[in-house]
Amino acid sequence: MSYRKRISDFVKTPNRALLTTFVLTIFFISCSSSRKEETYTVGLAQASNDEWRMNMHEAMRRELVFYPEIELIIENAEDDVARQIAQIEQFIEQKVDLIIVSPIKAEPITPYVEKAYLENIPVIIIDRKTSSDLYSTYIGANNLEIGQLAGQYASTLINPGDKVIELRGLKGSTPAQERSAGFDQYIDQEQFDRIDLETDWTRADAERNLARILNDNRDVDLIFAHNDRMALGAYEICKKEGLSDQVKIIGVDGLPGANGGLELVERGILAATLLYPTGGQEAIKLAAEILRGQSVEKEHILHTTLVNGDNVRMIRLQMDKILSQQLNIERQQRKIIEQIRDYDNQRIFIYLLLGGFVIITILAALIIYNAREKQKIVQELAEKNQKVIDQQNEIIRYSKEAEEANAARFKFFTNISHEFRTPLTLISGPIEDMLRDKDAGRFIKDLKLIKGNSQRLLRLVDQLMDFRRIDNAKMKIRVAECDLNAFLRNIINSFKRLANDKGIDLQLHVQSSDLRVWMDQSMMDKVFFNLLSNAFKFTPYGGKIILTVQADVENNQVSIKVEDTGNGMTLEQVSHVFDRFYQGSKNYSLGTGLGLALTKEFVEMHHGKIAVLSKVNVGTQFEVTLPLGNTHFSEDEIMQEVSGLTELSHSIMEEEKVDITPLEGGAIHSREHSVLIIEDHEELKGYLTTRLQSEFEVISASNVQEGITKAFEHVPDLIICDLSLDGEDGFEVISTLKSDVKSSHIPIIILTAKTSMEDHLKGIRLGAEDYMTKPFDFTMLLERIHTILVNREKLRQHYIHELPLAQTNGNSGKGERKFISELAAVVEEHISDPQFGVNQLGDLLNMSRVQLYRKVKAILGIGVNDYIIGVRLKKAKHLILEQDMTVSEVAYETGFSTPAYFSTAFKNHFGSSPSDFKSKNRKS
Ligand code: FRU
Repeated sequence: MSYRKRISDFVKTPNRALLTTFVLTIFFISCSSSRKEETYTVGLAQASNDEWRMNMHEAMRRELVFYPEIELIIENAEDDVARQIAQIEQFIEQKVDLIIVSPIKAEPITPYVEKAYLENIPVIIIDRKTSSDLYSTYIGANNLEIGQLAGQYASTLINPGDKVIELRGLKGSTPAQERSAGFDQYIDQEQFDRIDLETDWTRADAERNLARILNDNRDVDLIFAHNDRMALGAYEICKKEGLSDQVKIIGVDGLPGANGGLELVERGILAATLLYPTGGQEAIKLAAEILRGQSVEKEHILHTTLVNGDNVRMIRLQMDKILSQQLNIERQQRKIIEQIRDYDNQRIFIYLLLGGFVIITILAALIIYNAREKQKIVQELAEKNQKVIDQQNEIIRYSKEAEEANAARFKFFTNISHEFRTPLTLISGPIEDMLRDKDAGRFIKDLKLIKGNSQRLLRLVDQLMDFRRIDNAKMKIRVAECDLNAFLRNIINSFKRLANDKGIDLQLHVQSSDLRVWMDQSMMDKVFFNLLSNAFKFTPYGGKIILTVQADVENNQVSIKVEDTGNGMTLEQVSHVFDRFYQGSKNYSLGTGLGLALTKEFVEMHHGKIAVLSKVNVGTQFEVTLPLGNTHFSEDEIMQEVSGLTELSHSIMEEEKVDITPLEGGAIHSREHSVLIIEDHEELKGYLTTRLQSEFEVISASNVQEGITKAFEHVPDLIICDLSLDGEDGFEVISTLKSDVKSSHIPIIILTAKTSMEDHLKGIRLGAEDYMTKPFDFTMLLERIHTILVNREKLRQHYIHELPLAQTNGNSGKGERKFISELAAVVEEHISDPQFGVNQLGDLLNMSRVQLYRKVKAILGIGVNDYIIGVRLKKAKHLILEQDMTVSEVAYETGFSTPAYFSTAFKNHFGSSPSDFKSKNRKS
């Protein structure tokens, strides 16, 4: 699996898991809420709004507390049949779940009940009936039985022949019909005087009807009203007529409460009432059963009973008790419902809690899983990283090895080259001697051949070295501003003899008199030496070689053309002319080995270009183009304060010849030098002073401190120091003076009575030049002083006189010489440090840069850098002559950053390269 894929899974997984958890939680919660039953709508088509029906509603409401899923809508027709029909139809249209109908009349309502029933809406008929059996169930008391019980009781109150008035309910309503029929069974027409009055179930209608007939029937004995309302109305009418004591009244319904049937019986207004339960409670129970899909009986007949003076009290108490129990139950039920609601809420809360817990658990698991995965990935990455690091280290090791191998090869190559150079030098040296020999005669041709070839081999070795340096990036270009015309003229001059010998017309054409070009003279020397050598090689006798210098101001460059009238080259040869050791036949470049390839490298190091045009048998033209100015060189490629070296070298060379000679004799001018005697033995000090002061300026001191102070103060040319100075240690003087730059150059002769080898060694190690034991021979001491001073002077002059001292030499005073001597000593001390320059020199001499420059310029007439380079070169020359060191070693020993820079400076200074100089001078 790729990292990217794993990381994307890592990102996706928690989201997926969270989503799943969320869905599960919602599912749990919805499960818990779906436990709540479906809600149902039940429509009640109520016939009227009297007290009895209000009691029915109240019973229903109480029962509905147990069925919160049922919503009851009550529509009251207020005894209006048409209105009741409309209400039933509306229920059907609303698609209520169940309809309860208490039909005002049977016939007109029946079709609508049937309709609802046939449309699969369960219908409960309550109290009054319809005229068909297309309904779900009927609930109500047995009205026939009610009529019978009323008749039965009436018969106990009256005698046959008595007058009975029956106040019937609404015609067409079934309770009215059935109650009447039952009553008739006991109070029939034959035995009793019967008057039947039709009403609409209301008290007002009953009173109206009764009042209408009462006057004619004042002998009435009993009235049976189909409900208690009408019975009360009948009582009021009778009372009005003064008949209330005579007439026994029986009612129906037996409602509790004020003006209810039970109270009327209790008060003696009614003889009796028949309990006619509303069935509200039962209707709701049945509705719930039907709605739950349970099957129910077609008829539910409620019990009835007769209430008269005998049982009214007991029944009322019972009813009150039942009522209060019902209210109690209702209260408890409400509480239970509240608890259920609380429970439901708590359950939801628990589910949420559970869901949260599940989410947290899953998340925790995911986090652990992801952390592990991450750790794995990190570990894998770390391993990969380690591998990469190992590989990198391997590569570094390989490249280091390669670098070392390369360095070793380079060293080997350099060594081999030197190995070649030495025997070649040893060949050309004797050959030159032989050539100079008068007797060389018949060998001259061969000797010249040997000399030419050995020089050619030498050059080849040098070129190979140059290539190696270029390839190893060890060859650094060091440019200085230079007079191009003079530079080329110098080169041309060295070819003049050859031109003469070969009968070649060698010309130099320059365009402007002063053309300053920034270049590395040693490189350019090789460039033009090569081009001219080639031209001479391939130009036959009588030919022409022209060197043309042309400044191209517009392009800020200069072009130097070397043209010959030689053999020329083919196109093929031209295309390979700058290749190293191209193997093609008659290769132009082969003539000089690596020359042209190296030439090209050097020109390119100058950001220049070299081009060649050639035609067979016509000639060849090389054109070197160099940019003017020095902005194309980096700061460290530009040499500071050495621009005058070319001219400088000539003047120094002239001086060298003049000045060294007189010193060779070793003459020390009288009292030119000063000697400091540090000696506590007064007599000896006096003796020495007397003997020495004819030749030297003598300064003396008697103890360590005085000696050191005077040495610093006078900077004498020599010090003679005793080792025992008034109980003090004379070695202290030596170590102090030798370790201080201001005095370290002063030669010290220890003159002591201490003869032990340890002291002798200690003195020499501290830097003392000589060690003499007492008693001593004065002549010997003087000789040693002379020797040291001559050698010192020789050495100093050796260095100084190769510097441009000409302007100041004769006039320089003692103080100046001291300074020069100090200057020389400091420079000498740091001669191998390439970083050593004006700043450090000034610091060491306790002088500012400006002070130093002015003083050096005033005394020597040159800049400080030129002076330092001069000292370096002089030392180099000395080392080349005296030591068996390679040019590179000498270069580094004398503080040149590169051997190439050294060679350039050396050649500019002494007129020949260090190697040439060495080979020429060493042999002699
Ligand atoms: C109420 C009522 C009751 C009676 C019943 C018969 O409207 O008149 O008094 O018992 O109807 O349906």
